Amino acid sequence: MHKAHKTLSFNTLVVQAMRAIFGFDEASMQVIEDNMNNERGDRSGILLEMHDMMFGAFVQQIDELNANFLECWTPHINALAPAGSHEPISLWYWLRHHFSIASAASLYGPESPLTLNPSLENDFWLFENRIGPLFSVPYPSVFLRKAYQARQRLFDAFTEYTELDRYKLPGTSRLIQTRAEMTLGQFGLTERMFAQGELSMMFAAVVNTVPVAFWLLSYILADRELHAEVRAEIDRCVDIAGGESGGTRRRCVLNVTKLKTQSPLFNSALRETLRITATMNINRTGETFLVKKGSGLAIAANVMHFDKSVWGDDADVFNARRFLPTTEKSKGEGEGSRTADIAATFRDAKGKLHSGAFRSFGGGTLRPSNFYSCVLVVLTMLQGNNVCPGRQFAQTEIQSVVALLVAGFEFDMPDDTTYKPPPSEGSKMIAGVSKPGVDADVHVRRRKGYEDVEWVCEM
Ligand code: HEM
Repeated sequence: MHKAHKTLSFNTLVVQAMRAIFGFDEASMQVIEDNMNNERGDRSGILLEMHDMMFGAFVQQIDELNANFLECWTPHINALAPAGSHEPISLWYWLRHHFSIASAASLYGPESPLTLNPSLENDFWLFENRIGPLFSVPYPSVFLRKAYQARQRLFDAFTEYTELDRYKLPGTSRLIQTRAEMTLGQFGLTERMFAQGELSMMFAAVVNTVPVAFWLLSYILADRELHAEVRAEIDRCVDIAGGESGGTRRRCVLNVTKLKTQSPLFNSALRETLRITATMNINRTGETFLVKKGSGLAIAANVMHFDKSVWGDDADVFNARRFLPTTEKSKGEGEGSRTADIAATFRDAKGKLHSGAFRSFGGGTLRPSNFYSCVLVVLTMLQGNNVCPGRQFAQTEIQSVVALLVAGFEFDMPDDTTYKPPPSEGSKMIAGVSKPGVDADVHVRRRKGYEDVEWVCEM
């Protein structure tokens, strides 16, 4: 918990950052700042209405979002290491490139800017890498030239996308179509301002999912036993006799619902990867007598996630089985189609629940059983439910990406050693999950028996 300057509020800070980072003009800023802290008490205004729309959309439209992503992702997998080849790739770069493009396409449709011009993917991560300095360094066009120009190319591409009504094309998510209708129609921002602001959506959508997928895959590849067990779980979700693809290749169908509900070790490894790598702080300011107006609250996930009194003596190391008591339990309860919430409370080996201890996706519904959860209950009362609305979608994305790579491919190190996860680049002020500091060069080949398959995913 910390005390912020009395006159600041969370949204005030966010809005100032948005002006600098997304280049909003004065007219847009007036619209954005209107009722941003709910001064009128009716939750009107672009920030609050967009927030509420998205929390609804990620629940109501989750099937459509999941299906979009799976359709966009499989072509990237089916083009990797064609039968008989050993394809050399830089694992982080390969994953970042293909995952970002597929993710953008699942939201922005068949004519997503990154699909039409894949070099924008590199621009996006160049921009992301310098987002802190872009917010704070004066004259960024001079002192941060490369990142500034990358951002400009993204601004221009998203503006063209909007001006040519590409968001209206079939295959574009309703989520993005509604964002466009609200921003352009209801709130009257220009097409350019809407387009520039959409980079914030791109941030939410890819900056955490892509590195989490990378680290999860890395942890699995680095441990032969874990790899074999996770692969066996995934294999049980694959139907290799699922029909013909129409060509010469056999069709292999991965059932992603089964993956999410019936693979406790894979799900535990994912949560453990999030515990270690997704440790963003959650900041809020008070609005009522419970927390003095203007006082700041910071939920320090990077401290809580390594607290030995919750996680045990091995809190500092990756333990793929740590969440098994949680994921085994939800497997039993979720027999069939219901997916347990990935942000659910951590249950330790003795069956004890630690509410509020696992915070990778932010706040949420809590039982106030300890100090942290009391603080979070206060936050929930102040701000509504602030758990990440995209978490179910993120889970589908990460698990389908990693599962297909584990089930269908072998990764060899050029010197025949066992794969070792590269060191992390360390955390940055604004960005979430850390990225690798150096890339991991590997040779990819198709798994024996799967050389000729065409992968398909279904929910
Ligand atoms: C591993 C992946 C992800 C992690 C760790 C993550 C984590 C978070 C966290 C910690 C917050 C802030 C919660 C708060 O303090 O209020 C957040 C907010 C948000 N996330 Fe995620 N997220 C992930 C993936 C996604 C994806 C894939 C999407 C959408 C496609 C998404 C959309 C959002 C949005 C829109 C918000 C802001 C919600 C608001 O208006 O308050 N996230 N996320």
